Amino acid sequence: MLKDKNIILGVTGGIAAYKCVDLVSRLRKQGANVHVILTKGAQNFVTETAMREISGNPVVTSMWQEIQQYDVEHIALARLADVVLVAPATANVIAKCACGMADDMLTTTLLATKAPVFFAPAMNTNMYENSITQQNLHTLQERGCHIIDPAAGHLACGTSGVGRMPEPQELVEILVDFFATGKELAEPDEADSRQHLAEELDFSGLNILVTAAGTREPIDPVRYIGNRSSGKMGYAIAEAARDLGANVTLISGPSALTPLAGVNFFKVESARDMRRLVLENFPESQIVIKAAAVADYRVKNVADHKIKKNDEELTLVLEKNPDILKELGQKKQKGQVLVGFAAETQNLIQYAQSKLEKKNLDMIVANDVSKPQAGFNVDTNLIKLLKRDGSIEELPLMSKKDLAYIILNHVMKIYRQHN
Ligand code: PMT
Repeated sequence: MLKDKNIILGVTGGIAAYKCVDLVSRLRKQGANVHVILTKGAQNFVTETAMREISGNPVVTSMWQEIQQYDVEHIALARLADVVLVAPATANVIAKCACGMADDMLTTTLLATKAPVFFAPAMNTNMYENSITQQNLHTLQERGCHIIDPAAGHLACGTSGVGRMPEPQELVEILVDFFATGKELAEPDEADSRQHLAEELDFSGLNILVTAAGTREPIDPVRYIGNRSSGKMGYAIAEAARDLGANVTLISGPSALTPLAGVNFFKVESARDMRRLVLENFPESQIVIKAAAVADYRVKNVADHKIKKNDEELTLVLEKNPDILKELGQKKQKGQVLVGFAAETQNLIQYAQSKLEKKNLDMIVANDVSKPQAGFNVDTNLIKLLKRDGSIEELPLMSKKDLAYIILNHVMKIYRQHN
């Protein structure tokens, strides 16, 4: 997928810069032409020589150096790029780009390019979570840049938390996926729907309850049963609803995503924790959208201490968890709108239809999780919207962020019919 693609890799001054030697090597193995720009800070962590040898191309370290291979003008790389990846992206470069500064070769290239841009933020957790950095990332995202979530783990500053640059292989996979799915993504006019719908939709004064991510059911103090839900779908809906003026309550299972600013945010672990908070918030909510992947079963006898391994088989007895959505369907009052998701790998319409009826929903988002780039832990999704009047709206593979607006558009239509 990366064969003959011109990838501009902007390396900035963070300790994770050392991983870029491996990153460039992996990109080249995929057939990409990699052109590296090292900021001044990055040169403290990785050398121009190493990057030149590994990329096979001249490395740009300054606005003013002579580079024989490119056109002389300083935006040549911006034009050449099929994609620009900034990895690691420091808080500093993110801030500069968010306000349109162009004071070195990397920021100049970023301002001048029309190619897709990916940022892989890597920094100390407090710097990453600082509302200024979050606002800057939000600004870049709003302008169409792709932000790659940092991983959690041990950081160079001696602390643990979110802020690690993802491993080079993961970054390569993100670019491969991008080029693989880019053509299948909705046409620009469909993708533009976010902007278009945002202008028409107004959720001011409405309380929307959204659930996201998967629950974890403990086995013992250190182990659990979980699933692959990242929270991306639910967070996208909560974020869109917030941006459209709603008062949003987001109840999330464990997720690596950053809690959204400007929403009432609750983090839960198990299905029963989620049920308690959902039921507490339900009476005040005009609209509920349940994107969470709730565990259907939990371990019957959770061990008080870590289960010790021996040579015997281990049997866990599971008991059923409460079906939160079904309970909401029973409690639903006139005027309230209840939307569920159905994650299916077969008989999509049939199973989703049955959940729509059994759980007394107004709409169900039938999610075909058997298809590539759809469902769990990816940025895109493939869904069909089923309503009580029997209508089915089929949508193409689209980003979860765009789908969030389309789902909310349908929700608003139902809400208006009921109120
Ligand atoms: O988080 P991402 O990585 O972005 O992935 C998104 C997603 C695939 C998780 C999402 O798009 C999705 O399909 N969510 C629903 C997953 C699911 O649990 O589906 P289900 O068919 O098992 O459940 C049907 C509905 O009942 C869901 O709305 C679920 O929240 C709800 N439910 C299920 C079981 C239960 N005990 N209580 C519930 O409320």
